[in-house]
Amino acid sequence: MAKATNGKAAKDGDVLAKAAKTAAAVPAPAVKATPAKAPAPKPAPVAVAPKAAEAKPAVAKAKSPKAPRVHRIAVLPGDGIGEEVVREGMKVLEAVSAIEGVKLDCKTYPYGADHYLATKEAMPAAALEEMGKTEAIFMGAIGDPRIETGYLERQIIWGVRQTFDLFVNLRPIRLYHEDLCPLKGKKPADIDMVVVRENTEDAYAGLGGIHRKGTPHEVAIAEMIYTRQGVERVIRYAYELCSKRNKRKRLTLVDKANAIRAQDIWTRTFAEVGKEFPDVEQDHAYIDAACMWMVKNPEWFDVVVTPNLFGDILTDIGAMIQGGLGIAASGNIHPGKVSMFEPIHGSAPKYRGQNSANPVAAIEAGRMMLDHIGEAKGARRIENAVRHCIETGKIASLKAGAYKCDEVGDMIRDAVIRGA
Ligand code: IPM
Ligand code: MN
Repeated sequence: MAKATNGKAAKDGDVLAKAAKTAAAVPAPAVKATPAKAPAPKPAPVAVAPKAAEAKPAVAKAKSPKAPRVHRIAVLPGDGIGEEVVREGMKVLEAVSAIEGVKLDCKTYPYGADHYLATKEAMPAAALEEMGKTEAIFMGAIGDPRIETGYLERQIIWGVRQTFDLFVNLRPIRLYHEDLCPLKGKKPADIDMVVVRENTEDAYAGLGGIHRKGTPHEVAIAEMIYTRQGVERVIRYAYELCSKRNKRKRLTLVDKANAIRAQDIWTRTFAEVGKEFPDVEQDHAYIDAACMWMVKNPEWFDVVVTPNLFGDILTDIGAMIQGGLGIAASGNIHPGKVSMFEPIHGSAPKYRGQNSANPVAAIEAGRMMLDHIGEAKGARRIENAVRHCIETGKIASLKAGAYKCDEVGDMIRDAVIRGA
């Protein structure tokens, strides 16, 4: 196999070395599929405070205010518009927390392009270790044209996904107002799906490299890796979600098994795990056709499960049909463990510091984070507030520049407080 010559990444080996430990669970391509057991990431501590809201005093009601439920959160605003959208996300999260009796014990980390340029430090192992002791990471965006393409993304986004084995990338796609949809005649009832993107394997496993770089004999290799364990756990997650969601109860496997025969592992695993879920209809589409159906008949989809790379691409189409990157959010999840929540959009450096980015996607990521840490009621408050602001036309556009970033944050925070 060609030896990786990515000297740049090797220099900042802190994240990669750690991530490699997790990636070590992936068998070498030539080896028969006998995946070693993935080292379980350290369990995240659960809330340290007693569950005050559930405590029912037998004798008399306590007069003193109830102790808040505390959740430790790592905040990673990152690059470009990351900082401003995360600020609005935090504004909304704090408003919800005050209402729900929650305290978010947040620590903000400086990692991203500016920090890297000043210190040559991308994502230190010690910071990752600290983040591993929180319940969730709230991220803005990573990426900057001053730095080699993909370097920070690999160190930070990919590093966090691999280190904490965040095998589900959950991407809800929901249209709140037909005017936001670029598709003719599609209504909110037509666009309501969730994409479950596998998040640790496939072409993203990091196996491969460039051999004899820059010579006429150059060879570039990127391996698509699928382990039985990796495929099975994400497919099972998708079935469970589909069953629980109780909408169309249709789970669509999106792959390209006709051309990439290794993806037969997805076909077989999907059918096998499906036997455990007789209430869920099994559906299938090849990725090229799925892109077409997403535009032509999005109402067909309920829950979609798909390998990493196809999920990346498909969810950008998904973002567009729900109103754009201004609203699309995602959760990088390992159920029950520290997980990372981020808007799907990038750092959009040209909009940095202009207060013109749309923070709804970051606010939505915050909503998903609340759900993950067990604050479903708070999450619903955000959902209702966002929905209200969009349905009533208060937020009539999700494009950058349509509103001030903090203006949108204020509107949603106020709607949260009013209980819209
Ligand atoms: C995403 C992004 C990332 C990905 C990039 C920034 C590495 O596009 O989260 O969808 O490809 O996963
Ligand atoms: Mn993407």
